[in-house]
Amino acid sequence: MSAADWDERYASRERLFSGRPNEALVAETAGLAPGQALDAGCGEGGDAIWLAERGWRVTAIDVSRVALERAAEAGAHVADRIAWSRGDLAAAPPPPGSFDLVTAHYFPILRSSGPAAVDALLAAVAPGGTLLVVGHARPAPGHEPEGFDFDSYVHPADIARRLGGGWRIEADETRERRTPPPEGAHHTHDTVLRARRTTE
Ligand SMILES: C[S@@+](CC[C@H](N)C(=O)[O-])C[C@H]1O[C@@H](n2cnc3c(N)ncnc32)[C@H](O)[C@@H]1O
Repeated sequence: MSAADWDERYASRERLFSGRPNEALVAETAGLAPGQALDAGCGEGGDAIWLAERGWRVTAIDVSRVALERAAEAGAHVADRIAWSRGDLAAAPPPPGSFDLVTAHYFPILRSSGPAAVDALLAAVAPGGTLLVVGHARPAPGHEPEGFDFDSYVHPADIARRLGGGWRIEADETRERRTPPPEGAHHTHDTVLRARRTTE
């Protein structure tokens, strides 16, 4: 989907997502000391705002102007701790080695686009920092969303396989969701990858 497609998707509803932080973000980062975070594909800002409320300084990037406007409005109370930025992470990599946490929830990366976008996310994690990537698990047969080809996208397990030495995988698993999926979606399980960058 292009930036215009995402803008159109967001504009089609008053709010597309819940505004609450994703449950895997809360579970996986609650024990981390706050530092610099990158939220890749931040959408309407629920995760970035939650992190900022806990003391993180967040760079929140999304390709959708509509989503970012909503996010900035919702996060006005923590505006001093979040830099909202419109950008295409497939085309413009974030600064390397800069973030104690790089989090990407349901961030779509097409396999056909090659490894650059994934490599840029990995490179953005500072030594000692954490990578958290969460996706939708493969839908059960007969429950595939219309027009969505699971195998066209890069998933957390693919990224786990791409991590070489210099990373410690702390979680790489499928989990049942406890919170309902967004309206119109039928996802029941998440795939979660959390990894620690151990060296430069
Ligand atoms: C499924 S939404 C998830 C939003 C948010 N992370 C959440 O969990 O609610 C995916 C988001 O990624 C953004 N996005 C898609 N491709 C992008 C790209 N190449 N660069 C930056 N953002 C992108 C979309 O605009 C959208 O907000």
